[in-house]
Amino acid sequence: MTRSTDQPATSEAHIALVDERSAHNYAPLPVVIARGEGCWVEDVEGKRYLDLLSAYSALNFGHSHPEIVEALVRQARSLALTSRAFHNDQFGPFCQAITELCGMDMVLPMNTGAEGVETAIKTARKWGYEVKGVAPNEAEIICCHGNFHGRTITVISFSTDPQNRGFGPFTPGFSIVPYGDAEALAKAITPRTVAFLVEPIQGEGGINVPPDGYLARCRDICREHNVLFMADEIQTGLGRTGRLLACDHEDVAPDVLILGKALGGGLLPVSAVLASREILGVFRPGDHGSTFGGNPLACAVARAALDVLVRERLAERAAEMGERFMERLRGIDASIVREVRGRGMLIGIELDPEAGGAKRFCRALADRGVLCKETSDHVIRVAPPLIIDQSDLDQAFEHIAAVLADPAPAAPVAGAGGHER
Ligand SMILES: Cc1ncc(COP(=O)(O)O)c(C=O)c1O
Repeated sequence: MTRSTDQPATSEAHIALVDERSAHNYAPLPVVIARGEGCWVEDVEGKRYLDLLSAYSALNFGHSHPEIVEALVRQARSLALTSRAFHNDQFGPFCQAITELCGMDMVLPMNTGAEGVETAIKTARKWGYEVKGVAPNEAEIICCHGNFHGRTITVISFSTDPQNRGFGPFTPGFSIVPYGDAEALAKAITPRTVAFLVEPIQGEGGINVPPDGYLARCRDICREHNVLFMADEIQTGLGRTGRLLACDHEDVAPDVLILGKALGGGLLPVSAVLASREILGVFRPGDHGSTFGGNPLACAVARAALDVLVRERLAERAAEMGERFMERLRGIDASIVREVRGRGMLIGIELDPEAGGAKRFCRALADRGVLCKETSDHVIRVAPPLIIDQSDLDQAFEHIAAVLADPAPAAPVAGAGGHER
C-alpha cells in the first residue's frame, strides 16, 4: 500500500490514482503536467508541451508570469485572507483598478466564473424588483441556445446541453432564444424580463461568433425595453479576442459585465461583476457575499494581472498575432476542415463530422507536444496564452497543419465521438 504522502513516479501511476480516487467528472487527455512556464509545460517524465488551451483562457498571461507570481508571494507573506467582515488594504485599490479599466462605477468580487454569473443573476433580479418594478418573484432572464455559463444548479437551469438535464429540479425564471438572432430576443421580451445574458462569442458552445452587429442590436433592444444587457466575458474578456472586452468590437458597453478566469492571473480563482451605481447599488449588507471574494491575496494578484495586461499590450498582441494565425489556419488545405473562426486568440477549427470527432486530433497534437482541447464535438479550440511569441506560434501552426492532414490515430480514442471535458 502507498502512503498517502507518496508522489506517484510516473504519468501512468498518477492517472491510475486519479482514476481510482477522483470522481470521473472530466475526461482529460493522458498528460500529467508537473511544471509550467510561459507557454510551455512539462510532464512528469520531462516531455515538453506547448499549451494552446491556456486553462480555458484563464492563462492569458501564461504559466507563472513572474510579475504576477511576485505579487502573489509578496501579498501571501503580508496578508492573505480577512473575509469581508473587515476591510483590507488591497480591496479598494483593486476595485479602483478594475472599474477604471472597464469604465464601470462599481464591482462585486467573487471567485469562480459560475459564482460571477450567479451574482449577475441576483443583481438583475434585485434591480428588476427595486428599480424596474417587476412584481415579486416574477423576474425573467433571457439566455441563448448553446450557452455555457458554468455548472451550478441555477446556471445549468438555463443550459441547453442535454448532459445537464439530469440534475433537476431546476431554478425557474429563464427563457431561451437562438444565439445570433436579435429579432428573436426582441420577440421574447415581456414586461417581466429584467435581463438578457449573453456570451459575446460562445466559447464552450464551439467558438461561435455571432453575425456582425448582433451585440449592438441586442444592446439597443435591451435599452428600448429597459432590460439589462449582461455580457459574460469570463472567457472572452481581458484581451483574449483582441480587445479588452469582446463587446468592444461592436462598441457595446454592457450594463452588467462578468469577468473571471484570466482575472486571477493564472494563479487564483477571481471573478467579478461590474456595473453602474444604479445597478450594483441595489445590494445592501447581507444580500450577497463570499468568504473568499475580495480577499487581499486575490486582489493583489488581479491588480498585478491587469497591470501586465495593459503594459504588455496583450489585447493588441492577440489582435495582430491572432488574426494572422487564423488566416494561416484558413489556408491549410485539408478536406476535413469545415471552417476556421474566432477573434484574436480565441480560435475554433470546425471539422467535418465524418472526421471522427475533434478529440482524436487533440490527442494526435498532444503526441506531438501541443496541447489543445476540443470544444463541442467537432471543434478544435486554439487559445494560446496571449504572451506567446511568433516562433512558438509558427511551431504550433506546423503541428496543426500536419495533424489536420493526417492525425494518424493509433487506436480509437475513448469518447472520440462526444465532447468530454
Ligand atoms: C463564458 C463562461 N462563463 C462561465 C464559465 C464558468 O467559469 P468557472 O468554471 O470558473 O465557474 C465559463 C467556463 O468555461 C465560461 O466559459
